[in-house]
Amino acid sequence: METNVAPPADLEEIASVVKGLGRSVVTAQVDVRHNAALDDGVRQLGRLDVVVANAGIWSYGLSEEVPDLEWQTTQDVVLKGVWHTAKAAIPMIFTSSTMAIKGMRNFSPYVAAKHGVVGFMKTRALELAPFGIRVNCVAPTSVNTKLIHNDETYALFAPDLPEADRVKDPSATIPVMDVPWVEPEDIANAVAFRASGEGRYVTGLGLKIDAGQTLK
Ligand SMILES: NC(=O)c1ccc[n+]([C@@H]2O[C@H](COP(=O)([O-])OP(=O)(O)OC[C@H]3O[C@@H](n4cnc5c(N)ncnc54)[C@H](O)[C@@H]3O)[C@@H](O)[C@H]2O)c1
Repeated sequence: METNVAPPADLEEIASVVKGLGRSVVTAQVDVRHNAALDDGVRQLGRLDVVVANAGIWSYGLSEEVPDLEWQTTQDVVLKGVWHTAKAAIPMIFTSSTMAIKGMRNFSPYVAAKHGVVGFMKTRALELAPFGIRVNCVAPTSVNTKLIHNDETYALFAPDLPEADRVKDPSATIPVMDVPWVEPEDIANAVAFRASGEGRYVTGLGLKIDAGQTLK
């Protein structure tokens, strides 16, 4: 099963954007199934304020048809990867999902792992609260990234639409507000609030950025 560790070209692109803002950046290619690599970045940048555990994969299929390897790989990236990162660093913001709040047909490995992320977040928040350290989750609905923009996802959510229309038709997607998905910036804004002093007493919370999805 493909886990999609970021290729060097992606890291170079991110580094270039950050440098363009006049900021320093350290990148590393890491498979979160096996470890997290923070030491070098902290050494070069001088300190650590917040970590966002964001790596994720998903796949499709009815529960009874999911191969063992697919189930295990999803748990290893989505849940164990968060744990690896949380062992290496505090404080934390985890990316969970609306699929950590509701079930979703055909997504059982992902739904189970994302529910696990929320349980881990609540426990880690309790463990670290006495030290004034906060641990939170963001729970996005569909986000405009390549996780949803691929042939397999279009085929699952909009099998009857011509391919060109699938990405444009909100009825093929899951939010309730009149948008097909939210933008990465919407999630980044929620993360920035949690990381800022304005969120100083917010801990143990899964913040939905879901355009109403979980209301239905
Ligand atoms: N896009 C959505 O609709 C949506 C909705 C809810 C939650 N999420 C969550 O948001 C997070 C970011 O996803 P995205 O939408 O940007 O998708 P994406 O596919 O664009 O990004 C996923 C990232 O995870 C990385 N990754 C995958 N396996 C890895 C591994 N083994 N080790 C290290 N990195 C690995 C990839 O390199 C990629 O950078 C994920 O946790 C995802 O589950 C996404």
